[in-house]
Amino acid sequence: MPLLPLAGLLMIILAITGGLFMARVQARANDWARHTLVVEMRVGEMLELIRKVESSHRGYLIGGNRVFREDMDDAIIDLNASIAGLRRLTADNADQQRALLALDRLAALKVAFVRSRVAQAEGGDRAGAVRRVNSGYGRDLLRAIERGVRTMKANETYLLERRIARVQQAVWWLIAGQVIAIGLVLLVAILMLRDARHRFEIAEAARDDATAAAERIGREMVARQEAEGQLRQMQKIESIGQLTGGIAHDFNNMLAIVIGSLDMARRRLEGDPGGIRRYIDNAREGAERASALTARLLAFARQQPLAPVGLDANRLVSGMSDLLRRTLGEQISVETVLAGGLWRTFADASELENAVLNLAVNARDAIAATGAESGRLTIETANAHLDDNYARARTEVTPGQYVQICVSDTGGGMPPETIERAFEPFFTTKEVGKGTGLGLSQVFGFVKQSGGHVAIYSEVGKGTTVKLYLPRHIGAAEELRRPEAVETIPEGRAEEIILVVEDEQRVRHYSVDALRELGYTALSAADGREALRLITETPAVTLLFTDVVMPEMNGRRLAEKVHAIRPALPVLYTTGYTRNAVVHNGMLDTGVAFLPKPFTIAQLARKIRDTIDGAGANR
Ligand SMILES: Nc1ncnc2c1ncn2[C@@H]1O[C@H](COP(=O)(O)OP(=O)(O)OP(=O)(O)O)[C@@H](O)[C@H]1O
Ligand SMILES: [Mg+2]
Repeated sequence: MPLLPLAGLLMIILAITGGLFMARVQARANDWARHTLVVEMRVGEMLELIRKVESSHRGYLIGGNRVFREDMDDAIIDLNASIAGLRRLTADNADQQRALLALDRLAALKVAFVRSRVAQAEGGDRAGAVRRVNSGYGRDLLRAIERGVRTMKANETYLLERRIARVQQAVWWLIAGQVIAIGLVLLVAILMLRDARHRFEIAEAARDDATAAAERIGREMVARQEAEGQLRQMQKIESIGQLTGGIAHDFNNMLAIVIGSLDMARRRLEGDPGGIRRYIDNAREGAERASALTARLLAFARQQPLAPVGLDANRLVSGMSDLLRRTLGEQISVETVLAGGLWRTFADASELENAVLNLAVNARDAIAATGAESGRLTIETANAHLDDNYARARTEVTPGQYVQICVSDTGGGMPPETIERAFEPFFTTKEVGKGTGLGLSQVFGFVKQSGGHVAIYSEVGKGTTVKLYLPRHIGAAEELRRPEAVETIPEGRAEEIILVVEDEQRVRHYSVDALRELGYTALSAADGREALRLITETPAVTLLFTDVVMPEMNGRRLAEKVHAIRPALPVLYTTGYTRNAVVHNGMLDTGVAFLPKPFTIAQLARKIRDTIDGAGANR
């Protein structure tokens, strides 16, 4: 609105001009009033002079005193001067000029009459002169002059009144104009103020917007940097996982052979020649340890076979209290805070227990490392909703509903560098021999494989909280089955024919030997095609025991083809590597019998028996 200030300025100029004009009108009115006063005064003077002429000439006529004669002459001179002055004063007014002319004439008549009487007296006829004076002519003239004077005064007063009325009117108009101008100036001022305030508000809003945007960009940059950091870390862990998974798979196959062969050697050993049994036991123990390590590596690589069930985390945590107390010792108190109305989750129960146990052991070590006498481990459960914001800040998180299990300790906490690397396999800050650095890796792999998320919150000197988020499961919880501790090795019968399909020659031989050892009749095939041929030749086959990962035809394809010939034939799968057809994303297909490599004779015996018997029961 650039016109507004201009309009305001114009109004102010108008108001000032109006004021000046008003002052001028007032001054003119004053001049006129003064002029009227002067005219009236002069007219009065003129009358006085005429009266003086009258009285002095009478005095002279009666007493003959020359002083009166001189007074009369002076008065006549003054009278003429007075009339001349009045003529000038009323020069601009025709009415007054006319009235003055009439007066002038009367005065002239009066003067002429007076002069002739004086001349008459001086000529010796004083009595005649006095008679003429008293005749009344002189008096009549005076009366006429007085009327003329009144007329002039009245004229002047009337004129003044008219002028004043005009001035008054002009003043009223001017005042009205001034009021309007001032009103307009005020209006303009108000509009300008409002405009200014509006502009100020816009500017303020723009400034606030800019500040907010700057802050948001700042926050987004920080969040982005964090997310990028996490992404890098995740990619690193992902690639380590792939490497580890590959190595662990091959390693598993080799261990299967080692453990199996040692089992066989031990079973076939009669007596203990040369204390060989002890060497075999040592070797087997080493192999078992290697197998346990491989299992942890596979867990990290998200390739351990999981058997998830709908489970109640509260019940699982409560069920662990004895185990935790035993593991943590008396110095560490265990507190559980279990949420009411906790959702179900879908996870492998024993692996979840394993994860909680791993976290508890870490907590114990962290508390012990502070040198404190006692400490506290808190396990909390809760329903959690990971929203879009949370997920955006963490690249690997899917937003949604989760069951949260928090394990907190009063240990020494971790510095940020440790938190960043804690999930990496073999990352440990513990002394050699004390920690392998696989605990959190295993927890991480398990949680990720279960479709969840894990986060560490820790402060040096305060303690650590590890939060596990497992996806919500809509459905009932299943009873947790605990494996029986001691089991006898179930034997087979010669009429039970097992077809072993395995591309790895040594594993195949070991499996066949082991099955025969257990009392079964074993046939073997190196690939799917050979296996199909054997099935057609030998319809009495009781069970198909097949590797999953094989070139050309994998275990699952083979099973499909076999089922086309023998629909009810039970199948037991085995593999050391689970990212494949039977184990989708590491989760076993329901109803699939599976034996992870490496396996001991006892594990093989139990699984084979269960599968045959289970299939029998189902039939
Ligand atoms: N609760 C905790 N408090 C403090 N530091 C911890 C905690 N949990 C883990 N850490 C740190 O993270 C590192 C890695 O933990 P992780 O469980 O993966 O391996 P580890 O405990 O060293 O060995 P392992 O679990 O294989 O015996 C630990 O060495 C420790 O420095
Ligand atoms: Mg650990």
